Amino acid sequence: MSLLLQIDEIEKEISTSLPENPDDLENFRLKFLSRNGLLSQLFEELKTVSKEEKPIVGKKLNNLKKLAEEKYNSTKDKIEGSFSVRPNVDYTLPGRFIDIGHEHIISQTLEEFVRIFREIGFKVTEGPEAEDEFHNFDALNTPEHHPARDMQDTFYLDVKDKSGKKYLLRTHTSPVQIRTMLSEKPPLRIVCPGKVFRNEAVTPKNYFMFHQVEGLCVDRDVTMSDLQSVLTYFLKKFYGRDTKTRFIPSYFPFTEPSAQVDVSCFLCKGKGCKTCKNSGWLEIGGCGMVDPAVFEAVGYDPEIYTGYAFGMGIERIAMMKYGINDIRILYNNDVRFLNQF
Ligand code: PHE
Repeated sequence: MSLLLQIDEIEKEISTSLPENPDDLENFRLKFLSRNGLLSQLFEELKTVSKEEKPIVGKKLNNLKKLAEEKYNSTKDKIEGSFSVRPNVDYTLPGRFIDIGHEHIISQTLEEFVRIFREIGFKVTEGPEAEDEFHNFDALNTPEHHPARDMQDTFYLDVKDKSGKKYLLRTHTSPVQIRTMLSEKPPLRIVCPGKVFRNEAVTPKNYFMFHQVEGLCVDRDVTMSDLQSVLTYFLKKFYGRDTKTRFIPSYFPFTEPSAQVDVSCFLCKGKGCKTCKNSGWLEIGGCGMVDPAVFEAVGYDPEIYTGYAFGMGIERIAMMKYGINDIRILYNNDVRFLNQF
């Protein structure tokens, strides 16, 4: 049979064929379009056609291929479309809701806190939660038997460090000051967020674990007024422009002078209410000028450098901001509470 006749025959066959399901369609593809299919064979035969006939036969053959491909694609769409329609599905039903959760209120507060300090040139650093006595106490001017060790009840671990002293769960983020100063040269401007642990009875006000953000700035000529202005700037950004700050003399072994940082109660704006126990003020952390003994412990020259440090409790700050009166509720994982933030 001449090639032209064969083409006509196959064209008829393709036009009248009616694949109805995926199997039919695959047979169609194998028969006409696959590498060993009829069309490939015809293209192979095209090589034997005389020069004069080639353009005519070639064109017909190309049209035939197009026809077969169109038939294949349109039937495929139709079959796949009809197979994905499931008659018993109610498309008006709302979709399935997947609750992926969100950041915990304490993480949100930490982020916000750190973001404000980043904007004014502080770098974020972190340290381990399991610490040794050197970083947590000794280097912070709190040697053994120093009465200030009792200020923070410590969880000791049953693991000893090289000097034979027990590791402990850090009682504050201040050891990160030491770690940073030991590994970097001044000037330094850092904030260190993280978990701290204290062996205290659990009450609405106290929990055995909470979060702090430590701050440290070391340079030449750093003064107490730098400390006051940076903290005041931060607290106004965090709590609002009309927030007032107050620094009350206090004591920490690693700062001298030391101060307690208070903010005006954001609820009553300083007039006095239940939250601030009618004082108009809320305590949010401690601060002070780095004690020269701390600089000596890390090898900084206290004759050249001065610095300030602060440490703030994140739970307190978040609880005050959102009017939460029981710290335990933060860690109950009750979604009815967590969803509110
Ligand atoms: N580490 C102190 C505490 O946990 C807070 C503090 C940090 C005070 C830095 C002064 C300087 O109570």
